[in-house]
Amino acid sequence: MNRIKIKDKEFTISITEEQIQREVKRVANGINRDLAGKNPLFLSVLNGSFMFTADLMRNITIPCEVTFVKLASYQGVTTTGKVKEMMGLSEDISGRTVVIVEDIVDTGLTMERLLETLGTRNPKEIHIATLLVKPEKLRIDLDIKYVAMRIPNDFIVGYGLDYDGFGRNYSNIYTVINENE
Ligand code: IMP
Repeated sequence: MNRIKIKDKEFTISITEEQIQREVKRVANGINRDLAGKNPLFLSVLNGSFMFTADLMRNITIPCEVTFVKLASYQGVTTTGKVKEMMGLSEDISGRTVVIVEDIVDTGLTMERLLETLGTRNPKEIHIATLLVKPEKLRIDLDIKYVAMRIPNDFIVGYGLDYDGFGRNYSNIYTVINENE
């Protein structure tokens, strides 16, 4: 499927499943190499990162744990700027090596807020692993250690990412077309 329609918008394929899988494997290999012996706790940020987390974890070969948190700041195609509270973290992260697993870092505000919240719980170290970064949109100076792919400043769906709740189910990533028409 090269084109999909979700509600009022049309999208065209921009990153194939094969490309995604290749880059996710590369990120996993880096983590396996860097964090061996550290028993990392992967903290997957729902909903958007569920597919990335599943594929990433399948390629992690070192002892580790994975847990899920939820927070939302996005409605439609523009960031609201309002970041909700982190919910669902019951694990004690003090002294732990934490790897935040995100779908996309856009402005970076969500990640900044998450780092602040987690920082108060005394982790040993926090690393960021994100499927995607939109470098042109980034407003916060973040040290993002693991990035699968850098993409232009266009709205995308698929592989966990949504447009108003739809489109998360596709294995490819699609970019919006006719955005300004
Ligand atoms: P930030 O706080 O601006 O970095 O926004 C991060 C969040 O916005 C991500 O976790 C996504 O849920 C959402 N987001 C950013 N860009 C897109 C996009 O192109 N498609 C779908 N969701 C997006």
